[in-house]
Amino acid sequence: MKPSRGNIGIDRISMYTPAYYLDVRELAEARGVDPDKYTIGIGQDEQAVIPSSQDAVTMGAAAAADLLAYIDPERLGLVILGTESGVDASKAGALYIHELLGLPHTVRVMEIKEACYGGTAGLLTARDYVAAHPGAQALVIASDVARYGLATGGEVTQGGGAVAMLVSENPRILALSADSTVYSESIQDFWRPVYTDEAQARGKYSTEQYLEFFARVWGASGLSAADCAAVLFHLPYTKMGAKALARLAELDAVSDELRARFQSSIAFSRRVGNLYTASLYLGLLSLLCSSPAFEGQLALFSYGSGAVGELFTGRLVEGYEKFLPDVNALLDARRKVSVGEYENIFRDAVPYGPEDYATNPDYYCGPFVLTGVVGMERQYARREE
Ligand code: HMG
Repeated sequence: MKPSRGNIGIDRISMYTPAYYLDVRELAEARGVDPDKYTIGIGQDEQAVIPSSQDAVTMGAAAAADLLAYIDPERLGLVILGTESGVDASKAGALYIHELLGLPHTVRVMEIKEACYGGTAGLLTARDYVAAHPGAQALVIASDVARYGLATGGEVTQGGGAVAMLVSENPRILALSADSTVYSESIQDFWRPVYTDEAQARGKYSTEQYLEFFARVWGASGLSAADCAAVLFHLPYTKMGAKALARLAELDAVSDELRARFQSSIAFSRRVGNLYTASLYLGLLSLLCSSPAFEGQLALFSYGSGAVGELFTGRLVEGYEKFLPDVNALLDARRKVSVGEYENIFRDAVPYGPEDYATNPDYYCGPFVLTGVVGMERQYARREE
């Protein structure tokens, strides 16, 4: 990788996930599966349960709302939503978020889609935008509902939530390198046709491709594990990250320190599940919130099915620990639901059809909700918590 140019990166970061979760041991029992398969074989403990009043827009707006105090309307030039659970095939979900947050009108607003890679595409585009527009700020939101279907192989890897990042010069958290290593190729490992909200996956093939893409970009990057204070992976479920770390150990020497930091990076994902576009960044938050403050270069591997794999680096900024959100408090405040309640919430989904629909107020949470769909238009509202 080429050396860094400029000093641009993540100045602020925040996270949101809805107020409900499922214990995957209880899910395993209900599905007639050994709970160890889910907790050890897949590497998950809890899974976010997403009521139909929460979607990529409301969760993204909730995460970004925590950054409003740091946004300068004169400097904000770009708002990007990276998502693969977009609510409209035409209009960018970022425009709904733009309205809910009352952001200035003199900004570019768009949505980026490439499966789980969409958040990284947004972040690196924001970095380039700030490089081209010195002094500017860019808001990047990664927000998704990971949904595979009841009693499917992918069910244990569901989840959802959002991470928002403010990108600027002289960042307070992570200074991003100016270059990266990327590999893109059209493959059919995971996809979601526009007429359904449930993803289709060739599960085993997707895990193999993830590892292939990782090995390819790692090899091409010229990076050495010894130069990294931590290596972060896209985490569809935490065992996938462990498999990637094992692949790295075949390619390079992996120190005990890197292994310990990997464990810190998966703590939040074990409790939330897959956030698709936001998963890599939940891993970043987990690492930074769960480890004593440290310094050095981080390597981040982003994978989006379909597929794009990109490896990029960033350098931690001294004092970053003062600017982290309290993710543990958010996760601890959630209510556990039974498997039966989760199934009822799951089935009460916004229909993929033209009929009017109202979401269930019993499950309203967070600062923004989808109240329903009227005349094929989604109705969003701010609520007092
Ligand atoms: P499966 O068929 O349920 O699982 O599918 P399995 O039978 O392969 O078992 C999983 C692991 O549990 C295995 O370990 C078993 O040995 C172990 P491994 O061989 O992997 O090391 N196991 C046990 N361990 C302890 N005690 C036991 C026990 N029994 C079994 N009793 C799969 C798993 C992940 C494939 C499935 O859940 C799935 O299809 N998920 C969705 C797809 C996915 O997440 N793919 C990941 C790579 S692609 C990606 O990351 C992109 C993505 O985020 C989407 C995007 O980009 O937008 C998905």
